[in-house]
Amino acid sequence: MESKKKNAIDKHFLLSVKDEKLFEQINAIVDSKFNINKVEQVKYGDKYYDVTITPIKNYKSEISDILLVFHNITEFKELDQAKDDFISIISHEFKTPLTSIMMGTSMILEEKIGAINDKQRSTLMAIEEESEKLTELVNELIELTKIESGKEMYNFKCCSIFGIAQNTVKPLYNIANEKGVNLTNTIDEDMPCVYADPEKITWVLNNLITNALKYTDAGDDITISASVDGDFMQISVKDTGAGIPKEYKDKIFDKFFHVQNDDEFEIKGTGLGLAVVKEIVEAHGGKVWCESDIDVGSNFMFTLPICDERG
Ligand SMILES: Nc1ncnc2c1ncn2[C@@H]1O[C@H](COP(=O)(O)OP(=O)(O)O)[C@@H](O)[C@H]1O
Ligand SMILES: [Mg+2]
Repeated sequence: MESKKKNAIDKHFLLSVKDEKLFEQINAIVDSKFNINKVEQVKYGDKYYDVTITPIKNYKSEISDILLVFHNITEFKELDQAKDDFISIISHEFKTPLTSIMMGTSMILEEKIGAINDKQRSTLMAIEEESEKLTELVNELIELTKIESGKEMYNFKCCSIFGIAQNTVKPLYNIANEKGVNLTNTIDEDMPCVYADPEKITWVLNNLITNALKYTDAGDDITISASVDGDFMQISVKDTGAGIPKEYKDKIFDKFFHVQNDDEFEIKGTGLGLAVVKEIVEAHGGKVWCESDIDVGSNFMFTLPICDERG
């Protein structure tokens, strides 16, 4: 330890702490000349640290030194990992029995095992609905833990956003029709291609449209559109539904967050969808945000890098 300390003294920062990202952060703070206290998370070997960067000024108010405090958070990270593993294992364990419950219920409902009376039917339909909700929760938990653990593999390629949108919207037209909501995909066929994992983006779009369907009523519109903004494609899912109060506009991307509604007793979903959407879009180098007004509607937008090739 003593020799390590000696080796570091009077050496360039990057020779003892081999972290270019951290060095860039420090330089940015020095350049900005502001008094910023910034925390970065870094990993050395199998240890994780929170690094607080604090510039120290001399009597002329010039930055003379930089103080770095390394806080070892490995234990916390390991606990977090254990929690994620636990959730992942439990959700996988839930999947098989849930599938049996759903299949069994639907067989009885379809009277394949014998006739049922109206009371039995309505009880079974309640069981079916609750099982569907639980399945949605389990699927979203599995997706989220996979993505957060970094184990999720992305299959990036040049793909058509028109094609992805068409495939996502197709199975949702029926639900929209039943609700009396006008679902329209206005994305043009000759839009440039995006560099993305088509399966993941289908998931993202499906989540945004399913949300829009949840918070709209008969007569409302849901419109999917895309436009080019520099090197990025901006995709929008806009609805004329309930809208989101201003104070919750960013919170809705947090895990398990629901906007509390006075006249709504039933929770409509898991509150995980948008958290997964955010993780996926950011893994593509894009961003996601929302503009919304109560009773006017919501517009969810996300960006994806455009591919150089067309096709
Ligand atoms: N299109 C929308 N219109 C109104 N509120 C929305 C819309 N999309 C999302 N929200 C709000 O954001 C919350 C979080 O969404 P999400 O993470 O997908 O969870 P879930 O759909 O399971 O409730 C929802 O519970 C709802 O309050
Ligand atoms: Mg949702």
